[in-house]
Amino acid sequence: MSESSGIRASLRSEIDPFRAMDVLAEANRMIASGTPIISLAVGQPAAPAPAAARDAARRMLDAGRIAYTDALGRMDLRERIVRHYREHYGRSVEVERVMITTGSSAGFNLAFLTAFDPGDRIAIAAPGYPAYRNILRALGLVPVEIEVGSATGYVLTAAMLAEAHEGNPVQGVLVASPANPTGTVTRRNELGRLVEFCDRHDIRFISDEIYHGLVYGEPAATALDFSDRPIVVNSFSKFYCMTGWRIGWLVLPPSLVRPAERIGQSLYISAPELSQVAALAALDSEPELLAIRAGYERNRSLLMKRLPELGFRDIAPIDGAFYAYAGIPDGESGSTDFCRRVLAERHVAITPGTDFDTRRGERFVRISYACSYDQLSEALDRLGR
Ligand SMILES: Cc1ncc(COP(=O)(O)O)c(C=O)c1O
Repeated sequence: MSESSGIRASLRSEIDPFRAMDVLAEANRMIASGTPIISLAVGQPAAPAPAAARDAARRMLDAGRIAYTDALGRMDLRERIVRHYREHYGRSVEVERVMITTGSSAGFNLAFLTAFDPGDRIAIAAPGYPAYRNILRALGLVPVEIEVGSATGYVLTAAMLAEAHEGNPVQGVLVASPANPTGTVTRRNELGRLVEFCDRHDIRFISDEIYHGLVYGEPAATALDFSDRPIVVNSFSKFYCMTGWRIGWLVLPPSLVRPAERIGQSLYISAPELSQVAALAALDSEPELLAIRAGYERNRSLLMKRLPELGFRDIAPIDGAFYAYAGIPDGESGSTDFCRRVLAERHVAITPGTDFDTRRGERFVRISYACSYDQLSEALDRLGR
């Protein structure tokens, strides 16, 4: 298909492709032609949604009526999320502040549209989840990438934010903890300092807490522990193993609830009701989900041992999520070429760092360990051969 002869696309759509998806597409083509590929390229659990979630969805399908809900979501799910904050964080959150979204991806759109005006500058960490940059750009906002590295454990600190803000003020900052692609956790004290700095300078703080529940040391703190001004974005995709159900939630500061509701009514009407009902059951499936997390923990130990042996360097602290972000072995020319060769010759799909860090990503790769232990072990054997 020729793009040049077609209708001109908007300037806002000129954003980077998500290269991990290109690696996945190539891996899928090879799998379809019979090549035994092991994919460590995508950020999604290999495990299915919890049994209770699937049962709840099945019952609802049988009953037949799946409808629009309020734009803010079903009240039973919103109330259950309030209980989740009480039980997991000892936080009391008013139910009015909880909005159910079509995955955290819709949550970002709603948060950005509600909190910012065109041209506003939003600080994000590099390396970071590429969709932040792409959604911000598509919405006419300006991503301000602050490079993080081994000096601060790959974490964006309040001191780094203060320096960037002093040079050219930002109106917002988005922090993920644990983060993608590094898996690093922003410690409680540092998160507190960030929130406090933002409150003091009227900077809107967006906290991506999608990987909460997947932390292998002390549990991650929520930004709500420090203030009721942050916008918290969360999702059922990762800990709850429900990527394809497209269901997540926001906790909004009180003054932004009605604006987000107004935008949500027109943009999405509501999140899918079938997924809302399934998500409600998923919140009561903790034992099953903790068993899955125990599997990631075994995988993580294996990676921590094997990656240095295989020559990977500058490995970011593997605190949480299910990713390792590592420098490619000495002598390799770049991660794009390295990943292409690893896929073609060793039949293992991993992601070049260029998605996550446009300037330094050619030296890094992201390895997802949300697969089975046997698959990970075989993939590492193949890399070592
Ligand atoms: C840090 C981070 N935030 C958000 C998302 C989007 O997740 P979803 O829209 O499925 O909730 C992802 C997906 O990989 C992610 O890694």
